[in-house]
Amino acid sequence: MVKEMTEANLRSAYGGESQAHMRYMIFAERAKANNFPNVGRLFTAIAFAEQVHATNHYRNIVSKGHALVASGGVFGSKNTSEDLQAGIDGETFEIVEMYPAYLEVAKLQKEKGAETSFRYALEAEKIHKSMFENAKKIVDQGKDIKLGPIQICTVCGHTVEGEAPEKCPICNAPKNKFKTFA
Ligand SMILES: [Fe+2]
Ligand SMILES: [Fe+2]
Repeated sequence: MVKEMTEANLRSAYGGESQAHMRYMIFAERAKANNFPNVGRLFTAIAFAEQVHATNHYRNIVSKGHALVASGGVFGSKNTSEDLQAGIDGETFEIVEMYPAYLEVAKLQKEKGAETSFRYALEAEKIHKSMFENAKKIVDQGKDIKLGPIQICTVCGHTVEGEAPEKCPICNAPKNKFKTFA
């Protein structure tokens, strides 16, 4: 049994991450079609990180059955610059409002599994936001970004450019738990 408020937050976060995953896949296709292949790869890799978050949240939901879920989403972007801004806006909401609030409720309710799941997501979203901000500056000059291999921790969604660390700094998973997008 997960307490009602925390479980509602898990469902909402699952909804938000699921939508973010799909939006980033859509944005990846558009970036590739518009000659921004590295921005496309960045979106594909970060879409996978959001899938990891959605999976963690889903696994912590115990109640069975159908439920309506209200979750935040960003709509209406039409090109890669706007897609990156949509990414920045969505990540910012998660960092500033959603995950800090959900995390406090989970702590208050002593829901350890949910607390871990929210904390993992919050840490990764901070990195995603700054990667999108850096990418947008370059795309707004009409150029594709320079991008090394992107490594995503399959346990927590931690996101790194370059070599995977020996140990994930967020969840302590070993190097072989990272998935590479090169
Ligand atoms: Fe993210
Ligand atoms: Fe990790």
